Amino acid sequence: MNEYMKETNEALLHTYNQFPVVLERGEGAYLYDTEGKKYLDFAAGYAVSSLGYADKELNDALKEQIDKIFHTSNLYYNTACGKAAEDLKRITVMARISFTNSGGEAVEGTLKAARKYAYKKGTGRYEFIAMKESFHGRSFGALSVTGHDPYRAPFEPLVPGVSFAEYNDLDSVRALMEQADGQTAAVIVEAVGANMGVVPPKKGFLEGLRKLCDEYGALLIFDEVITGFRLAFGGAAEYFGVTPDLVTYGKIIGAGMPVGAYGGRREIMELVSPVGKVYQAGTLSGNPIAMAAGLTQLKYLYEHQGIYKDLEEKGKRLYGGMEKILAEKNLPYHINHVSSLGSLFFTEQEVVDYTSAKSSDTKAFSEYFKGMLAQGIHMAPSQFEAMFLSVAHTDEIIDQTLEAVRNYFTK
Ligand SMILES: Cc1ncc(COP(=O)(O)O)c(C=O)c1O
Repeated sequence: MNEYMKETNEALLHTYNQFPVVLERGEGAYLYDTEGKKYLDFAAGYAVSSLGYADKELNDALKEQIDKIFHTSNLYYNTACGKAAEDLKRITVMARISFTNSGGEAVEGTLKAARKYAYKKGTGRYEFIAMKESFHGRSFGALSVTGHDPYRAPFEPLVPGVSFAEYNDLDSVRALMEQADGQTAAVIVEAVGANMGVVPPKKGFLEGLRKLCDEYGALLIFDEVITGFRLAFGGAAEYFGVTPDLVTYGKIIGAGMPVGAYGGRREIMELVSPVGKVYQAGTLSGNPIAMAAGLTQLKYLYEHQGIYKDLEEKGKRLYGGMEKILAEKNLPYHINHVSSLGSLFFTEQEVVDYTSAKSSDTKAFSEYFKGMLAQGIHMAPSQFEAMFLSVAHTDEIIDQTLEAVRNYFTK
């Protein structure tokens, strides 16, 4: 630990405990620390970067915006914000859009809009069904629908009226709908479980949720903070062909600048301010610099949708390659992946929900994380987070990574 780290630790409460590494710059798929060490990055700053670090177009757009204006207030129009909203409107369900500073705030917006919609219709519905071991953010509303007990327990009681079903188990959702007896305002789900490691939806799960919500008169909210613009421009909704009523997006829009967004069907979203009475935005929501990044990123992704086919292929190359190595070494572990998003689970069981995800040997994962870091490969440090590929991960980089995986398992 160097002097800078020691001094910093006296003053600053970081969100997480930190690795003794000071990152100084990023370029493409690589990060560099102050000691000059280079890391090949698969954590993407917690699912942020999809174009890779130091993308020139993005950097230029930010610099240009700084020189023009970097904040007024959201009492006025700002060009990037309106244009970014137009880009988002290209997604089927996004009839109207509201920008926030984070994914968690976007979740808050959808919860408020869903309750307001039920109140306006006179049904008085206020309950939410969420999934066990999901993650939706750390503010009170978002935390209330987050299914990780240890995150929630210190602050209980949280927002009332939330119950938790098993991800990938439609019967458990139906049972809660029955129990709620017509009081379910909305079901909120990460379309791909990505906060218990990567757990893809079983065939028919998302379609089944759509049907259940229609049958019981509840809204369906997809939290696409991880999957939006990553699986397809229209996220998991487009990838799996299921249309929710409301959607949240987050960090990937701003590529590292604070942007989140929520949107959905017109009749629900028009309850949001300034047309309606649902207030969620803050002083900096839709701020010109963040939105200059958002607009540049969205424009690029919309105009280059071929990258999604590429990411799908890269995902097959990396995760398929890892599967082959495990088979070669007679290791009975499992890999889950959806396009560029993936997880290696140190368990013999197929991972289809949190119960099976939890069977993974987290100590073995931790050793694997350290073994890969020692070879200059940086991934998310927890078994229950995902690996991310960006457009900057070339086939050559993926093959080098596979060599490092092979080295690790050749012990
Ligand atoms: C699925 C999901 N929803 C919401 C959030 C919260 O986003 P933010 O950290 O921008 O508040 C996260 C954060 O990782 C997430 O993974």
